[in-house]
Amino acid sequence: MKPLWMVILFTVWCGVYAKDLRIGAFNIQVFGATKSSKADVMEILVKIIRRYDLILIQEIRDVKNTSIYKLLDQVNTGQSEPFQTILSPRLGRTRSKEQYAFFYRPGSGLRINEHYVYDDGSERLGTDKFEREPFIVSFSSDNTEMSKFGLAGIHVDPDDAVKEIAHLQSVFRDMKTRLQTNDVMVMGDLNADCSYVPQKYWPMIELKSDPAFHWWITDDVDTTVKRTHCAYDRFISTGQRWTDNGVVPGSAVVYKFDEDIPYIGVINDTMAAAVSDHYPIEFLLKGKQYNVMKVFDVFIALVTKTGSLTVGSTYDVSRDLGIYEYGILKGRVLLPEELQLIMNHEVSLSIVPQKNRYNGVQRCILTMAVSRANVYTWDLLITICEVYSLRCKTGR
Ligand SMILES: *[C@@H]1O[C@H](CO)[C@@H](O)[C@H](O)[C@H]1NC(C)=O
Ligand SMILES: *[C@@H]1O[C@H](CO)[C@@H](O)[C@H](O)[C@H]1NC(C)=O
Repeated sequence: MKPLWMVILFTVWCGVYAKDLRIGAFNIQVFGATKSSKADVMEILVKIIRRYDLILIQEIRDVKNTSIYKLLDQVNTGQSEPFQTILSPRLGRTRSKEQYAFFYRPGSGLRINEHYVYDDGSERLGTDKFEREPFIVSFSSDNTEMSKFGLAGIHVDPDDAVKEIAHLQSVFRDMKTRLQTNDVMVMGDLNADCSYVPQKYWPMIELKSDPAFHWWITDDVDTTVKRTHCAYDRFISTGQRWTDNGVVPGSAVVYKFDEDIPYIGVINDTMAAAVSDHYPIEFLLKGKQYNVMKVFDVFIALVTKTGSLTVGSTYDVSRDLGIYEYGILKGRVLLPEELQLIMNHEVSLSIVPQKNRYNGVQRCILTMAVSRANVYTWDLLITICEVYSLRCKTGR
């Protein structure tokens, strides 16, 4: 007698290429009640921000602390993977204070571990180092090669740029210790060029020549919207993972939104300047790589109705008992025609990803549940056995 129920299991490696995450830093120039009430400006800001998975927003100037939430709401309208934000306190030595915000998409696998404002000494005693202290956030990232990293957002005081940039070295040290990771980055409007950091000062800034630090936006880049040509905005990282395979090579660029006509639409210089005097800078954090879909092993289990397998359920062949290994095929790709052959019969098919159980590679279980054991399904089994040169047996 032929068995009434049959379940066939294939072990495959998922053909998953996680997408790269776009990370940005954008000084949106005096963002408060006035700017957030301009619908046309907001519309462009919203479009720009939506390009990112994570973006540092600087120069939020708003005593009432409401404009940034208005922006967040508009950015999230109709989005399937909305942003969350983490906002710094209002920072600054004078009455003019600014906030930093990181907008990030939890749907892209990003989570915040911890955050703090860098303690740069006493403002009262005048021993502090920064006009606006760096705002530091540690992220975990599920879908990228780098699974954990620290980011410090800063808007450097232009009149004190040389000193503040030089002092970033202590910020890096502090981040590494406190966040327990070597992979940290300082990002934002560093005012690191033109009249604020004249050429002759660079040799005095160790951070620039020390090979332990990587400057992703080089001196020849122009991050300003106006006719000026200055590399004010920068990403500086330390830690080997960024340069090894954390960042997509060549992806660190300026996003000239006023030249991106297909996405933003045509905007004139006046409109571009109304959005900001800075362009966003950005890079791609490399998505985790998996193997393309490839069948490494084929396990076939034939069980009776009284066996331990249930039709439609998914089993992990490496773990579940009661599944018998009848044949193994190594290193062969499952052809579309072969899948079609399988699909044409009375079977249901489901692929269930299983996370990171083996060396960070995602493992998938492809389950074929044969719903009715008739002459066709029986033939199918025989065909599969032949196609894969398996030694098939019925389990009884
Ligand atoms: C800003 O407003 C939000 C929402 O009302 C609040 O949670 C947050 O603590 C405020 N932040 C600051 C720095 O005032
Ligand atoms: C620029 O574009 C804005 C919005 O479309 C328009 O109102 C304005 O008149 C334009 N300015 C110039 C100088 O063309």
